[in-house]
Amino acid sequence: MQERFDLVLKGGTVMMAAGRISTDIGVIAGRIAHIGDIPASAGDQVFDATGLHILPGVIDSQVHFREPGNEHKEDLATGTAGAAAGGVTTIFEMPNTKPSTTSAEALADKLARAKGRAWVDHAFFMGATPENAAEMASLETLPGCAGVKIFMGSSTGSLLVEAEEHIRAVLSHGHRVVSIHAEDEARMRERFKLVEGGAHPRMHPVWRDVETAVLATSRIIRLARETGRKVHVLHITTGDEAELLAAAKDVATMEVTPQHLTLSAPEAYDRLGTLAQMNPPIREEHHRLALWRAVSEGVADVLGSDHAPHTLEEKSKQYPATPSGMTGVQTLVPVMLDHVNAGRLTLERFVDLSAHGPQRVFSLAGKGRIARGWDADFTIVDLKAKRTITNAWIKSRAAWTPYDGMQVTGWPVATVVRGNIVMRDDELLGGAIGEPARFLDAIVATGK
Ligand code: DOR
Repeated sequence: MQERFDLVLKGGTVMMAAGRISTDIGVIAGRIAHIGDIPASAGDQVFDATGLHILPGVIDSQVHFREPGNEHKEDLATGTAGAAAGGVTTIFEMPNTKPSTTSAEALADKLARAKGRAWVDHAFFMGATPENAAEMASLETLPGCAGVKIFMGSSTGSLLVEAEEHIRAVLSHGHRVVSIHAEDEARMRERFKLVEGGAHPRMHPVWRDVETAVLATSRIIRLARETGRKVHVLHITTGDEAELLAAAKDVATMEVTPQHLTLSAPEAYDRLGTLAQMNPPIREEHHRLALWRAVSEGVADVLGSDHAPHTLEEKSKQYPATPSGMTGVQTLVPVMLDHVNAGRLTLERFVDLSAHGPQRVFSLAGKGRIARGWDADFTIVDLKAKRTITNAWIKSRAAWTPYDGMQVTGWPVATVVRGNIVMRDDELLGGAIGEPARFLDAIVATGK
């Protein structure tokens, strides 16, 4: 072989779609150019991956990076720094910023802000509103757009599409998969009296109860079938919804989060107080176990962190005046590798949920798989490393994690974005080279 490579990854165990292979990877101009034996002398840069596993770059398809409008919690530089530090190579960012991302101008603003400041590749969701539903076909295919997001129930920010006719209108315009926050607004409003005067955060899953989630998830499945539109239901928290989604593979895909697989009520609320408060809530142990069943039986399609930073000061108010959400983009990989080491899922299933799954659901172009011609995005992990997750390691401006003090086995040791090593041994390297991700559905629709 006469070729020269910009980067050669030597001697790692490579997680290919067909299985684990001990081989080398050669990168030219940000793409995977060769998979097979490569002499070290053929690389301008050589990464010795002996003893390490090379995963397709982890894609976190649900993060909230708060810019513009709430930069005191996070911004695109700090959020993506956390992603790179945690082994995540691509993020999709949610539209509940200030202002909300509901127009071509707001999307262009986010893309401009990310240029030169984002450490990883990125795309931004367009927030659906009753007003912009009719424009969705053109908005959802704009370059850099990850797709459409509907908040059926209100959470952080002002985005809400509550009325069935409005949800139907959004689903009827455009064709890309629509991501859904499924909580029933009317039921939440009616039950708010349970916590209104102040309560222990343990009441969070009592207020926003199982029925609140089930009502919204069953409604969106019905509307997806009626309108012939694919939906991706985010952060599923109940065994009941997992059952509904297992019976809806014709129209719906399912996301789980590491925190709903790791934490449960009441223990998490007793130990973490409002730091465990998020929407939809952390629930009882039997729901957590049902989510694991959805992982092992293949019902869950995608793992997303729902990284939703709020400051400790904001979290120290009296519940329910406290905002919902916790950080997660940086801890997704180590927390899940620890679950791999504990035997709760295989490394192959982790790759499926964090790379192949997002690629398939969102029809990402060139990302989510290690194969020749695809982007050279890699999450390189040491499965044997024993480490402790601490607040001090967290890059988020919020500067805390619900896993502070947790010992884990398995750690991301390098993050490679299109052939650029942006993190190695916990240190950010190079610069903020992140670029917008591309999507096959949008390319087909627009010819670009
Ligand atoms: O807990 C949450 N926090 N759930 C959401 O849906 C929104 C998020 C946020 O942006 O804070």
